[in-house]
Amino acid sequence: MPVGQPGVSPGFRCFARQARCLPRHTAKMAVLLRATLLLLMLMTHKHSDYMRWSKTQSRARFNLATSGVAPFPLRELPVQLETLEINGDYGYGHPPLQKAIAAHHGVDPDCVVESAGTSMANHLAMAAMIEPGDEVLIEHPAYGPILDVARYLHADVKRFLRTRETGWVVDSAEILRAITPKTRLIVITNLHNPTSALTPDPVLREVGDIARSIGALVLVDEVYLDAVYQRTPRTSFHLGPEFVVTSSLTKVYGVSGLRCGWILARPDLAWKMRSLNDLYSATPVYPGLLLSVAVFKHLNRLREKARPIVEADRKLLRDFLRQQPALSAAWPDWGTTSFVQLRDGNADDFLERLRTEFDTSAVPGRFFEMSDHLRIGMGVNTEMFAEGLNRISQALGRSTK
Ligand SMILES: Cc1ncc(COP(=O)(O)O)c(C=O)c1O
Repeated sequence: MPVGQPGVSPGFRCFARQARCLPRHTAKMAVLLRATLLLLMLMTHKHSDYMRWSKTQSRARFNLATSGVAPFPLRELPVQLETLEINGDYGYGHPPLQKAIAAHHGVDPDCVVESAGTSMANHLAMAAMIEPGDEVLIEHPAYGPILDVARYLHADVKRFLRTRETGWVVDSAEILRAITPKTRLIVITNLHNPTSALTPDPVLREVGDIARSIGALVLVDEVYLDAVYQRTPRTSFHLGPEFVVTSSLTKVYGVSGLRCGWILARPDLAWKMRSLNDLYSATPVYPGLLLSVAVFKHLNRLREKARPIVEADRKLLRDFLRQQPALSAAWPDWGTTSFVQLRDGNADDFLERLRTEFDTSAVPGRFFEMSDHLRIGMGVNTEMFAEGLNRISQALGRSTK
């Protein structure tokens, strides 16, 4: 029956009108949906929740929210301040620093890219290696800013699991399960932040083989690796051309303020990263370069200064955890951080009370996507550390009453 003819009920006329409009309506919806999706893609992730928390809320008198060793004071560095200069020549790298980093790792200086800390190293490395929409496979749990950078770059972020039951190790079978033909990059921290688990060379080699089989690369953030004080592993950069490594003098040497970081990458990638850095920091702080070169001359002295503090704190924490039924943690052999599970309750609430009532801080596990955990940092000051643990114990005692 033709619509709009006399004798047709108003209800049917209305239904028929809607039905006529449907294709146009659907098309409009599709356009709207497409525009929304495009907008979502264009909306860039431009912050780090963890960094904001760390800069504004991590401070306490008993600060166990650290990840590196105590600051190394300038007065203990054998350097004559008259030899420093404010301005100087800088092309793509400061040759004495580039050589020092290369010698430290036993690599060719052409493979060294200087950067502002491991933070900028990770950013430059990822930005040079991936395009928007590329799949990037990142460990879980992960250091938040690595995820933030991948999202900022519009990567399609996928995860592979490291679990407490296995001591947080990297399991190459799990990586094999998680890769797809679209995976362009696999990201690992070694030592692992937050757990400090070490990934040995044979496992890294397996990861390299997997990456090579799909034409992907492996980014290994080694900023904590030199906290392995005996039989320190060589950088994974030596394991094959698919490895790209980032590091700095921040965590193990106590000179974070110099922002001396670097990337190790094969020369073609290294050039992409240097060129990209022209868009960011262009040239570095010149006196920082000179001081960094001075630090490299005395690297072992800085490392050994921190070592007894790290070792004493690690022993304290291990004994403490043995006596605390409310807490549990896998215990790796090395490292300046431990990822501890609060068996009962919410770590956020506990840490808030710990800070406000006991002036003691640790990092909430939610920043590593595990809200029943907290990260405890070691290696700054053993007296402070011991009192921090004592206060954690008091806070736990009070919460169970
Ligand atoms: C795994 C990891 N990478 C990079 C960084 C940043 O290091 P940097 O201070 O050298 O920028 C951190 C700091 O906590 C970290 O834990």
